[in-house]
Amino acid sequence: MDLGAAIRGKRVFVTGASSGLGAHFARLLARNGASVAVGARRRDRLDALLKEISAIGAGAAMAVDLDVADEGSVAQAWATAEAALGPMDVLVNNAGIAEGSMALDTPPDAFDRVIATNLRGVWLMSTTAAAGWRDAKRGGVIVNIASITAFRVAGGIAAYAASKAAVVRMTEAHALEWARFGIRVNALAPGYIATEINAGFFETEAGQAMIKRIPMRRLGQPEDLDGAFLLLATDASRWMTGATIAVDGGHLVSSL
Ligand SMILES: NC(=O)c1ccc[n+]([C@@H]2O[C@H](COP(=O)([O-])OP(=O)(O)OC[C@H]3O[C@@H](n4cnc5c(N)ncnc54)[C@H](OP(=O)(O)O)[C@@H]3O)[C@@H](O)[C@H]2O)c1
Repeated sequence: MDLGAAIRGKRVFVTGASSGLGAHFARLLARNGASVAVGARRRDRLDALLKEISAIGAGAAMAVDLDVADEGSVAQAWATAEAALGPMDVLVNNAGIAEGSMALDTPPDAFDRVIATNLRGVWLMSTTAAAGWRDAKRGGVIVNIASITAFRVAGGIAAYAASKAAVVRMTEAHALEWARFGIRVNALAPGYIATEINAGFFETEAGQAMIKRIPMRRLGQPEDLDGAFLLLATDASRWMTGATIAVDGGHLVSSL
């Protein structure tokens, strides 16, 4: 199956599209003829992305102000996107933050911020989308961006890893409850890719040592996710739900 052709004409909402992987997914979708709604807090970044996408000359695109941790913002952003582009077919829950501190140096409010964005945000976006799809009796597809830290940990990411492990289990729980409505929910668990979330880390000694522990001996590039991402976002995965796919250069199977 041609995965690019399979996404053509679909309407896709991408959260956290103002940088990194979210911006990459939005460009990929637009290049392949999907209509894209991009949401995040930094509006200037989204507007710059929209300019880039229109230069690609692909499907329609729009930007919405979005704080995934805020119920009102989520409801308004989803409604605004659907009013502008039409009913959404796919939700990509990509927005995420990391605190990057050891557990004993992480104050409760930093822990709360990570959980509010990475876990509550996925819950709010997904329940908003799924309620609409159920009421309209049309199916839908959700792709959650988890992380290999859902399965193996490193130092300094306790809150982040806990939030991502919970996203994997939430993916399964939502898949179970919503299959009856024709809604599929799967997750992508990327390994390490240099973006703003880990800026500077891979230039450090610890970062370089980590790259050596990846069996394929390199960081990922956003493009390395494209195949699995499009698989999960399209009907190519029509009999998959509740699954999490790791794309990580083998990092999860690195030698103990
Ligand atoms: N890079 C990696 O190695 C890696 C590996 C595994 C998983 N991931 C996951 O991939 C996803 C994207 O991360 P990235 O690497 O692309 O990092 P990034 O460049 O820092 O992007 C994170 C995005 O999330 C958005 N965001 C943060 N808080 C938000 C909120 N409350 N509401 C709406 N948007 C919010 C940010 O936009 P604003 O600040 O403008 O709101 C930004 O666009 C995250 O879920 C991350 O955990 C990344």
